[in-house]
Amino acid sequence: MGQAVATLAEERGHAIHTVITRIENDGGRALTRERLRGADVAVEFTRPDAAVVNLERLLALDLPTVTGTTGWTENLPRVTALVRQRGGALLHAANFSVGVHLFIRTAQELARCFKGRAEFDVSIHEEHHQTKVDAPSGTALLLQRHLWEAEPGRRFPITSIRAGDTPGTHTLTYESQHERVTLGHLTKSREVFAAGALAAAEWLPGHTGVFTFEDMLFGLSR
Ligand SMILES: NC(=O)c1ccc[n+]([C@@H]2O[C@H](COP(=O)([O-])OP(=O)(O)OC[C@H]3O[C@@H](n4cnc5c(N)ncnc54)[C@H](OP(=O)(O)O)[C@@H]3O)[C@@H](O)[C@H]2O)c1
Repeated sequence: MGQAVATLAEERGHAIHTVITRIENDGGRALTRERLRGADVAVEFTRPDAAVVNLERLLALDLPTVTGTTGWTENLPRVTALVRQRGGALLHAANFSVGVHLFIRTAQELARCFKGRAEFDVSIHEEHHQTKVDAPSGTALLLQRHLWEAEPGRRFPITSIRAGDTPGTHTLTYESQHERVTLGHLTKSREVFAAGALAAAEWLPGHTGVFTFEDMLFGLSR
């Protein structure tokens, strides 16, 4: 993802101030004031076990930061507290595709329609490439949270497959004995994530607080 964002950013006329790789960044040690001086915004795509320390270092340097790394959100309260303490800016998203967020909104409407219909079993299924570290995907968890808003108390179980090189599919299924209703989203190319992350990086400077991609897409009040 880092490479995809950097390539697209240059195509759009942005200058890449610096690229930081894992080998030099144990414990976030490459994220120094000297190295990042002059940058307008940081874009962080790494791994669940590296993201929090990277975010803490970037926020301590008062650099607006966009992260797409998944699998770390149990630490979101800690990171949010740091953003507030510093008066900084963070935008985080498990998925930077516009289509997936419209899919989630549509799924929420579907859940409202099926509310209380116990004859239908409901399930979320997601598939990603075999190198994806976390499961369920951050997007599936986000979808599940939005479905709970539509029908609190209902179970929305998630199944995950890690195989091949698919960038990601998410499917919501309502199934009874005689019929099945499915709503799905399939990512055809990772470029869509890079485009969304870059749009977020263009949007974030000048804002203060913790934002999601949904805040940016649909407005802060939603
Ligand atoms: N939000 C979205 O739309 C979206 C879309 C796609 C992916 N993602 C998420 O974004 C993350 C990255 O995905 P990816 O497909 O790019 O994974 P990837 O191909 O595994 O790349 C991760 C990169 O991060 C590097 N890295 C690991 N720890 C680091 C550290 N401490 N400092 C600097 N670099 C470090 C890795 O270096 P090495 O190769 O040397 O280990 C690798 O180059 C995952 O959490 C994934 O789930 C989100």
